[in-house]
Amino acid sequence: MKPVRSPHVLVRLVAAGLCGSALFAQAAPSPIPRIVRKDGRYALLVDGAPFLILGAQVNNSSAWPAMLPKVWPAIQALHANTVALPIYWEQLEPEPGRFDYSVADTLVGQARAHGVRLVLLWFGTWKNGSAHYLPLWMKRYPERYPRVTGAGGRPVDSPSPYAAATLAADQRAFAALMRHLKAVDPRRTVIMVQVENEPGTYGSVRDHSAEAERQFAAPVPAALLAALHKDAAAPDANWREVFGADADEFFHAWSVARYVGQVAAAGRAEYALPLYANAALRDPLKPGPPTSYESGGPTDNVIPIWKAAAPALDLLGPDIYQSDPVRYRKALELYHRPDNPLFVAETGNSAAGARFLFPALGLGALGFSPFGIDYTGYSNAPLGAPRVDAEALAPFALNYRLVGPIMRQIARLGFEGKLWAVAEEKDEHSQTLPLGAWKAAVSYGVPAFGFGNHPNGNPEPVGRALIAQLADNQFLVAGLFCRVNFQVGDAAGGKQREFLRVEEGSYAGGAFKPMRIWNGDQTDWGLNFSDAPQVLRVTLGTF
Ligand code: DGJ
Repeated sequence: MKPVRSPHVLVRLVAAGLCGSALFAQAAPSPIPRIVRKDGRYALLVDGAPFLILGAQVNNSSAWPAMLPKVWPAIQALHANTVALPIYWEQLEPEPGRFDYSVADTLVGQARAHGVRLVLLWFGTWKNGSAHYLPLWMKRYPERYPRVTGAGGRPVDSPSPYAAATLAADQRAFAALMRHLKAVDPRRTVIMVQVENEPGTYGSVRDHSAEAERQFAAPVPAALLAALHKDAAAPDANWREVFGADADEFFHAWSVARYVGQVAAAGRAEYALPLYANAALRDPLKPGPPTSYESGGPTDNVIPIWKAAAPALDLLGPDIYQSDPVRYRKALELYHRPDNPLFVAETGNSAAGARFLFPALGLGALGFSPFGIDYTGYSNAPLGAPRVDAEALAPFALNYRLVGPIMRQIARLGFEGKLWAVAEEKDEHSQTLPLGAWKAAVSYGVPAFGFGNHPNGNPEPVGRALIAQLADNQFLVAGLFCRVNFQVGDAAGGKQREFLRVEEGSYAGGAFKPMRIWNGDQTDWGLNFSDAPQVLRVTLGTF
C-alpha cells in the first residue's frame, strides 16, 4: 500500500475501520516527544520543537468509538490542539494476556484525521482512588487483587499498593499498550501518557494489610531519606520514628508512588514517551488532615516523595477545580517547581476558569486541559459548567483561537524566559509587567477610546493578556477584554515611549505575516483588546 497522505483519504479509511497497524506503519517516524529542561525552565518537544498543549479532556466514558461523533464537534468548537482520552484496562485486556488494541487504534486514527494530538490516560489500577477499571477477570478475585485494608481491618474501595499480582498485571498491560503505540504511531499523534488517574486512597490514610504493616515498621528506605535530605533520628528508624504525625500519609505516598513508578518504568522501557501522574489536590491554602483528601496521591506536600519513588514519571500535574482564584493561583505555584514542569492536567470547564490559562502560561506551563469536553450530555457541575455546549465552551474557545495560531512561538519564547501572561482578578484592575528596558501596564474595564478613565475592571473578571519578547524593542502581544500599554523602563532618562510600528497579523511557516498596521484610535490610547482574537507585533522606540 502507498503512504496515505491526504486527510480525506484517512477519514474514509478510518470510517471504514481500516485503521490497524498496517496503515499506521506507512509514515516516516518523527522524533519521539520529550520534555527538556534549560536554565530551570521546561519545554515539551513535539516534532523536535517546543509545543503547547491547548488541551481538552473528554468525560470518563467517552473514549469509546460509538461516542466519538459526540466528541469531535466539541473539540472543534474549542479549537483544541490536543485531546486527552482514557484507555480503559477493562477494554484493553479482556482476558489475561490477550490485548485488544482496536479502540486505541481508532482513537489514534480519528485524532489524526481531525488534526489533533493525543494525551492518553491509562485508567489502570487507580481511577480517582478506586480500582474500578480493573478487567472483569481481576475484579472477580478480590483476594488475589486486594484492596487497601482500613485501620479497623475492613477493606476500603481502593487498590492496595502492596498487591503484587495487581502490580505485575498492570505493568504487563501498560507495557503492552506502550509497545503497541510505538509500533503504530511513528507520526507521534500520541505525545504524552498519564499513568493511572488520580492515584491514592479516600477513606483510609494508608494500607493496613499485613505486608503494609511489616513495611511500615521497617526502616525508612535510605533512598528516600537521602532524597529528602533527612537524617534518621536513629539508625534503622522506622516511618513513625522519622516522620511522626506525617508517617502514615508519607508511607502511603511512598507506597503508591513506588507502584505507579514501576508501572511507568515498564511502559517507558517499551516506548519513552513523556509520562506523568495527575493529582487530586488538597486545599492549596488550608489543607486540613489527610483524611479530608485523597491520601497517597501526588498532593503538594508529598511531591518530593513522589519524585524519589517514581523517577520514570516526567511530571506530576495538578487537577485544578478550585473556583477561588487565590487558591487556583496557589495550586499553579505549588506544582511549578524547579524539579517539576507545570502541566494543568485537568481543570473545570465553567466559564470563570478560562482566564487561568494565562497565569499558567506565565509560569511556563506545558499545557492546560479543561475537563468534560464532549457533547455526550454529561455535566460534572458544580465542578464544571451545568451544560456543555458551544456557548459554554466559548470562553475556552476564545483562548485557543487567540493562542493556537502562535502556539509554537509562545512555547519557544516561554522556554527562553521571554513570556509574561496575566489574568484579571476581581479587585485587581491593572497590573504592571516588568519587561527589562520596558514596562507594560495591563488594565481592565477601560473603554477603548480615551485616556481619562480609571480602570474599574470588567463586570466579571474575564480579562487576560500575554506579552512575549521577540527582540530588544519588539514584542508579540495578545489579549482579550483588556488594554495593554507600554511604558519606558526606569532607566529611560526622561525619554518617552513611541509606537514605531504596531502590526496585526499571524504566523505562517514560522514567520510573522502582517495583515494591517494599527495606528490612530487603535494605538493612541494604548492597545485595546475586545473579544476579537488579535495578535500584534509591536516595535517600540523613544523620543
Ligand atoms: C477528576 C478525575 O481525574 C476525572 O477523571 C473526573 O472524575 C473528574 N475528577 C470529575 O468529573
